[in-house]
Amino acid sequence: MRKITKIEIITRPEKLEVLKQALHAIGVAGMTVSQVFGCGLTKGHTEVYRGAEYSINLLPKIKVETVVCEVPVEAVLETAKRVLRTGQLGDGKIFVYPIENAVRIRTGEEGDIAIIDTDTSGK
Ligand SMILES: Nc1ncnc2c1ncn2[C@@H]1O[C@H](COP(=O)(O)OP(=O)(O)OP(=O)(O)O)[C@@H](O)[C@H]1O
Ligand SMILES: [Mg+2]
Repeated sequence: MRKITKIEIITRPEKLEVLKQALHAIGVAGMTVSQVFGCGLTKGHTEVYRGAEYSINLLPKIKVETVVCEVPVEAVLETAKRVLRTGQLGDGKIFVYPIENAVRIRTGEEGDIAIIDTDTSGK
C-alpha cells in the first residue's frame, strides 16, 4: 500500500476559488472545505479582513483538507504556497499528516485504492 497523506491548508476565505482551481490543475481529486475561525502566532497583531481591522484573536478562515496518494505532497505544498502567499500577516498555515487508512464506503475498498481514481461513475 502506498503512503497516504492528509494536507490541511488554513488560509484566507477569499483565496478559496484560486486554491481550488490550482489544486484541481495538479490532479487533486477530493477535498473537504470548512469555514473556520482561527488565529496564529501573530495574535497580538492586527490583520485586515474585508477592509475592517481586527484586533480580536479569531479571524474567519477557510480550511481545505485533501488526502493524497498519487499526487506528490510537495506539489500540493508548492501550489498552495504559490497561490496563497501575499506576504501579509495571515496568509495561513499548512499541516501535513500521515494517514493510516482510508475506506471507500460504497465498495469497501481500503488503503491507497480507496482514494485512487479507478472509476469515475460514482462522482
Ligand atoms: N499553531 C496552530 N495550530 C492550529 N491552527 C493554527 C496554528 N497557527 C495557525 N493556525 C490557523 O491558521 C490560520 C492562519 O494563521 P496565520 O497565517 O495568521 O499564522 P501566523 O503564524 O500568525 O502567521 P502570520 O505571521 O503570517 O500571520 C489561523 O487563523 C488558524 O486558524
Ligand atoms: Mg497571523
